[in-house]
Amino acid sequence: MVVGLSLLFTLYITGVCVFAVGEKELEKQSNLIAMLLVSCRAIIAQNQHLINDSEIGDKGFTGDVYISKVMEHYKNLTGIEISESDLSSSDIEKKALAVLLISAKDVINEYQRDINKKGVGFKNVIPAIVGRRTSYKYTNRMGAGYYLKQTSMQYRNPANHPDIFETSVFKKFEESGYQKGKGIGEVVASFNGLRVYRYMLPVYIEPACLECHGDPKGKRDISGGIKEGYKEGEMRGAISVMIPYPSE
Ligand code: HEC
Repeated sequence: MVVGLSLLFTLYITGVCVFAVGEKELEKQSNLIAMLLVSCRAIIAQNQHLINDSEIGDKGFTGDVYISKVMEHYKNLTGIEISESDLSSSDIEKKALAVLLISAKDVINEYQRDINKKGVGFKNVIPAIVGRRTSYKYTNRMGAGYYLKQTSMQYRNPANHPDIFETSVFKKFEESGYQKGKGIGEVVASFNGLRVYRYMLPVYIEPACLECHGDPKGKRDISGGIKEGYKEGEMRGAISVMIPYPSE
């Protein structure tokens, strides 16, 4: 009886430990995926003037040029070097980052005709839209148990609406005691029948966002959307990541 109990106890402790270590690792992996989307968005923002220039035709902003800047930005942000060749890596973490990188490249390559159009200023090639299209491609390519999405409680695009899990994390971001900027993740027992890890990295309003999401509330922005009247520093969205829980 005593032996049985202590065995059960040992198993219990071991189980908890394995679970705890696993969760830290899953959090790290999810964060690295979210950060790569942050880099993809940032490089579009940095090149927004070039993209919107109506005077220049060929801008030289090809998919390859774009992702070389993304890789550099990401390295500065995380210290990690990523490459397209990681696509054939047996390390699933590296592979996921490569799939995301290549998805971003493909999106910008698909936009070449728009980007290089002379005489047109605003082309709707903006971080939010490039980010959404990149996330779609990545999600489709990675398959079951993976997804990536930009979401907000007050979404513009219905495709970005938060699900129950995402809504619950948005509430946690607003709780007192929550450490600003920190991602929140959790093991979810069943998502379409799969055990997964879900993670959200909050997004805050910066001065560059106000042109479209700031004041005057209710007026149209350059993209044709309705300005929300957000203020600098407010948490107004998140990057949502899902990865499969590794099978033993
Ligand atoms: C040029 C206008 C413009 C700028 C600048 C801009 N956004 Fe957006 N944002 C949009 C549009 C348009 C969408 C809807 C994109 C889509 O169709 O998925 C959007 C969507 C989003 C979403 C996804 C949820 C939703 O509303 O559908 C978030 C989060 C977001 N923006 C945050 C930001 C932040 C943070 C910044 C600044 C760093 C920013 N945006 C800058 C136009 C803009």
